[in-house]
Amino acid sequence: MDFLSIRLNTVRPGILVPFNVYIKVADSFKHYLNEGDDFDQVRFDKLKSKGLKKFHIQQADEIKYQEFLSSILDNIHLESNDVKISIALDVSENSAQAIMVNPANEKSYSMAKSSSEIVHKVLADNDVILRQMVAQGRNSNSNLAERMQGHLVNTASIAIKFAATLKTNINISSLGTAAFYHDVSFTQYSSEEQKFFFKEIKSMSVGELSIYKTHPEKSVMTLQDKSFAEPEVLALIMAHEENLSGVGFPKKLTKLTQTQEILSLCAFYDREVSCLGKDPLTIYENIIIDQVGNYSLDLLKKFKTFMKSYL
Ligand SMILES: [Fe+2]
Ligand SMILES: [Fe+2]
Repeated sequence: MDFLSIRLNTVRPGILVPFNVYIKVADSFKHYLNEGDDFDQVRFDKLKSKGLKKFHIQQADEIKYQEFLSSILDNIHLESNDVKISIALDVSENSAQAIMVNPANEKSYSMAKSSSEIVHKVLADNDVILRQMVAQGRNSNSNLAERMQGHLVNTASIAIKFAATLKTNINISSLGTAAFYHDVSFTQYSSEEQKFFFKEIKSMSVGELSIYKTHPEKSVMTLQDKSFAEPEVLALIMAHEENLSGVGFPKKLTKLTQTQEILSLCAFYDREVSCLGKDPLTIYENIIIDQVGNYSLDLLKKFKTFMKSYL
């Protein structure tokens, strides 16, 4: 049985939950609350005081969970920032996890799409949410797979919020879905090769770089023959390491659509911070000088203004 995790503060005593709730004890899942019941305040507070942070629900109940969420999302402006951040992180982390385990599954794809829409809605509320969300996704103490999951979540949330601030007619759902998938081929590499995702390109050997450069195409391959995968999403994944100066890969393109350029810039930025551990403030200060030519000056200026709002 597969489970999704939900943070404690997205549910609360007095609200009926439309799914069975479980608690993870050691490596097993213990049934805690029946579908249609509400949380008892005393029991709930006791779990919180013991340091429990997440409940679990069966993945089969995901549709019921989505319905439960949409009722909260209808009045999201009434919720605290903590609740908004928890919802955005719950849906994104569950999607990134599903994608990394089962990239070719239609359910994983639809989770990425619906998460993109939810994150878009939640992040629209204010700038504090993105700052805290991104900070929580960066955990250098985690193992490489967890760090990659954090990078996928962060790239998606940064790209979604940045595109939304540009107020153009970008398809946010495609952009977000592609951001969740962009490095999904990570799981197909050996543990030695997975380290390349956390290594500076300039410090890679020729052999290492030629292996690393195969990852956009491999990510696309996981979805290529799937009827549910939209062509725009596949093109975005394929071009996420390209840039306007023609030194990107795999095709050394010199022309990108606006959405491709946004995904490339956001994936580049978050790799610098989440994967290579660089200081966001230093990147903020140098991004125009360092990246002019790789991205249009206009987009870099807008990205810098955008970064300032949540650094
Ligand atoms: Fe990549
Ligand atoms: Fe990446």
